[in-house]
Amino acid sequence: MNAARVDEVVGEFVNLKKRGVNLLGLCPFHNEKTPSFTVSPAKGIYKCFGCGKAGNSVNFIMDHESLSYPEALRYLADKYNIEIEETVLAKEEIEQKTERDSLYILMSAAQKYYSERLHEDEEGKTIALTYLKERALTPKTIEGFQLGWSSLGRDDFSQWAIKNGYNREYLVKTGMSFETEQGSLFDRFRERIMFPIHNIAGKIVGFGGRILRSNAKEAKYINSPETDIYNKSKILYGLFQARKAIRQRDEALLVEGYMDVLALHQAGIEHAVASSGTSLTDDQLRLVKRFTDNITFLFDGDAAGQKAALRAIDMALELELNVKMLLLPADHDPDSFVKAYDIEYVEQYFKDHSQNFIAFRIGLLPEDVLRDPIKKSEIVREMLNSVVLIKDIIKRNLYLREISKLLDFDEKVLNDELRRMAASKFKKDNKAPDLTLAEPQVISQEQAIRSQATAVNQEKQLLKVLLLYGSRMYTDDMTSAQFIYRETSGMEWENDHCRILFERYREATEQENNLADVNFLIHDQPEEMRRFVYDVITERYQLSPGWEKFLRRTVVSPDANYKEEVKSAIGYLKFTKISKIVEENQKGVALLETDEAIDELFMLQQVLLNMRKQLAVELGIG
Ligand code: GTP
Ligand code: MN
Repeated sequence: MNAARVDEVVGEFVNLKKRGVNLLGLCPFHNEKTPSFTVSPAKGIYKCFGCGKAGNSVNFIMDHESLSYPEALRYLADKYNIEIEETVLAKEEIEQKTERDSLYILMSAAQKYYSERLHEDEEGKTIALTYLKERALTPKTIEGFQLGWSSLGRDDFSQWAIKNGYNREYLVKTGMSFETEQGSLFDRFRERIMFPIHNIAGKIVGFGGRILRSNAKEAKYINSPETDIYNKSKILYGLFQARKAIRQRDEALLVEGYMDVLALHQAGIEHAVASSGTSLTDDQLRLVKRFTDNITFLFDGDAAGQKAALRAIDMALELELNVKMLLLPADHDPDSFVKAYDIEYVEQYFKDHSQNFIAFRIGLLPEDVLRDPIKKSEIVREMLNSVVLIKDIIKRNLYLREISKLLDFDEKVLNDELRRMAASKFKKDNKAPDLTLAEPQVISQEQAIRSQATAVNQEKQLLKVLLLYGSRMYTDDMTSAQFIYRETSGMEWENDHCRILFERYREATEQENNLADVNFLIHDQPEEMRRFVYDVITERYQLSPGWEKFLRRTVVSPDANYKEEVKSAIGYLKFTKISKIVEENQKGVALLETDEAIDELFMLQQVLLNMRKQLAVELGIG
């Protein structure tokens, strides 16, 4: 525990910035845009103000890597070169380990096996190692990326694994072996250079295998299939090796191939990663965003590469990443480029040729396009479609200016068009959640609640049930109105009309101990107030039809069940108000200076989060 400093342990996975005595970053346990994940080196703990997770170095590793307590200790011991004495696992114990663990163990054993084939077998040495040397890879790179070699035999690895006590079920599950109908096993990877694929904790989750001889019949690369431990869309090849450099340079370099990553790292450009086995995904970019806000794409200049680049730009902009594009001279890929030039030249070239995405896109256009007004306006619109994804208004304007300058286009016209696009995008983004797309996640439901149900709407809904059902009994000795007063005492209103009407109604009912009704409330009010009241009692502020469907609840008619209406109006109002405070606290963390203040806020936050969870359960939205 003394060695495993929380800032170092967490810092491997989270991009932390200094804030007062603490460090602050984006929480790795939930999706957040405003950093509220704090790490206190002095206390050795982390806390997230968004989701409430907290703990020390060991807890972090357990949570983040889904490890058990002893495994987390092993992980940390390994990181800090502390030796742990462990009894060797017996064959039975291997079987008893949890399944995910077993898969990890198998993959790690496979890596060692394949590396041994590369370095020890005659065939491996003469064919594969020679090939890697021809491609100018140094022993250090081969070692660092744990490369290996799968031999020619149809079941060499499978046999070895079975003989050494590995469960055949896991061999099949990891996709390392295929099982025939007769029940015999054969290897997925044969006669290939083996590239282990690591998750960010450094565990091997899959392999890529490159064929040696070019051979039209077989794919150049094959990859492990998706498994319980290998989610392709959430893994970047090389990130485990690159993460320190990414943090130091505050930038990630995204390239296409395994070989490119290796060559770049070897040349000293260690912030390079590749998306392997899939085209680039949103989740992979989120992974990058944990370490840096800046990404440079280095794609091939061919048509496929260009298409991939355009897609990647928009995805990255939407995640509020700062995007740069790099094109290499024709006939070069990163691998050949770093081998052809020395590192100073390469670094300088990268610096000089990084372009923003606007300049990049314009650079791709054939000459004549810009002379054709129709084509040119199409291009402008396409680029605005990307710019509109940027949330930061200052950056947005800088890009507008860039388009205006490079394409000689009136900035004001661009600005008007962008606004129109932004408005229609806003409408589209804020429509009722689409059931077919909505993921069954608490977080998306909460987000939906926040966008659909503003505090003001909830206040109106509460006022509505008060006016409509206030006089009816809620329990044997309490009217609905009295119940509402009790539940909302001390509450601060956002909407003045609601506050005034609520107070007026309350005074009337409390003083005379009799029934106020809507007409009483508005008989001496100005026109505007009367209209407000009628709007309130005729509109539904709580649940839109789409929202009801979203919650998969049939909504009972209000009159038949006014108690439910009263209860849920209060519930939603509380939920919304608490959510708002939670959010404000989250933003507020960054401003706090002392540990005491942070502790206090954190305690409050825990209480609020618990209350909110409880409410969500009661409302059936948890
Ligand atoms: P070298 O050809 O040895 O330089 O490897 P490379 O990594 O540069 O490969 P290349 O540029 O041809 O392709 C880029 C990436 O696309 C590879 O690293 C693989 O991830 C992927 N890829 C290439 N060919 C195949 C294939 O046949 N099948 C699959 N599944 N992926 C491939
Ligand atoms: Mn290549």
